[in-house]
Amino acid sequence: MSNKWTQNDIPDLTSKVVVITGANSGLGLESTKALAAEGATVVMACRNLNKAEMAADATRKAIPNAQLAVMALDMANLASVHTFAADFTATYDRLDILMNNAGVMATPQMTTQDGFELQLGTNHLGHYALTGLLIDTLLATPNSRIVNVSSGAADGAKIRFDDLMFSDEYSRFEAYGQSKLANLLFTVELQKRLAENKAPTLAVAAHPGVTSSNLVSSMRMPVPGITTLAKLLTRLMFPDTATGALSQVRAAVDSSVKGGEYYGPDKGMRGWPVQVAMPDAVNAADAARLWEISADLTGVHFL
Ligand SMILES: NC(=O)c1ccc[n+]([C@@H]2O[C@H](COP(=O)([O-])OP(=O)(O)OC[C@H]3O[C@@H](n4cnc5c(N)ncnc54)[C@H](OP(=O)(O)O)[C@@H]3O)[C@@H](O)[C@H]2O)c1
Repeated sequence: MSNKWTQNDIPDLTSKVVVITGANSGLGLESTKALAAEGATVVMACRNLNKAEMAADATRKAIPNAQLAVMALDMANLASVHTFAADFTATYDRLDILMNNAGVMATPQMTTQDGFELQLGTNHLGHYALTGLLIDTLLATPNSRIVNVSSGAADGAKIRFDDLMFSDEYSRFEAYGQSKLANLLFTVELQKRLAENKAPTLAVAAHPGVTSSNLVSSMRMPVPGITTLAKLLTRLMFPDTATGALSQVRAAVDSSVKGGEYYGPDKGMRGWPVQVAMPDAVNAADAARLWEISADLTGVHFL
């Protein structure tokens, strides 16, 4: 008997409510399909409503019973995060799974609406704030979970506590690694605080290995054709996005998952989802320090 964890292992999710950030593309869209196919209501939280409605329509064609709602959310704008959280909580009284998935990778040096370095702001600070603004609904929902989508790029990365926004010597890839390490430190501190509050809500992390998605587009490479070539090579060499999404889907629904765990492909960059080790750079002191900074920067204080 195979011990691979696949789509067939997803339990019935009827009556569950899921929020997925960046649900119109890549891993977010595949997670949407996987969870909606088992009966979950999925709120697709996206910055581009046209793209999101098109992705939702295509998903409804493939999965006729899919319960999907599209809502506007720009992770690079704290005002949008507040508006989304207010709209969501006005509409739904439960939140079973918050999948913090949206991301950009190795962008040119840019800032969010609030002046944060774009990758830290989008990939970590926006999700920190979103989680804080939805925490009451999560805590009120039995056995709820928060899944933070990180990356193998967190391995070997560090948090530049003395220059978090890379005002000096910006490096696209170091800033991406920092933001993805931040996702893991956030998971650790969030789980610690949930446990201290005796909350049954779990905080877990996942990474997909490598899979062909639109992520390379966010690099905005100046040479024409590079992005297309990178996507083509990734598609030829690595698993499809649906397989890549299984780690974050497992982290979201497998009943054997425990708070603070990290899921990824069993062969590192590819494979079937298993529990994997956190990188060495993940430690309790940095997790606590980053939490305090995130609270100060976003103005969202919780737990
Ligand atoms: N693909 C991989 O091999 C890989 C490897 C490791 C980790 N990851 C992680 O997986 C996650 C998903 O990436 P993906 O590979 O599926 O890439 P993708 O296809 O480019 O999807 C990224 C999603 O995030 C959204 N997004 C970006 N900035 C946003 C913002 N400011 N507000 C709201 N949504 C925003 C994008 O929206 P638009 O469509 O509007 O741009 C898109 O829906 C990311 O966190 C990434 O770091 C991916």
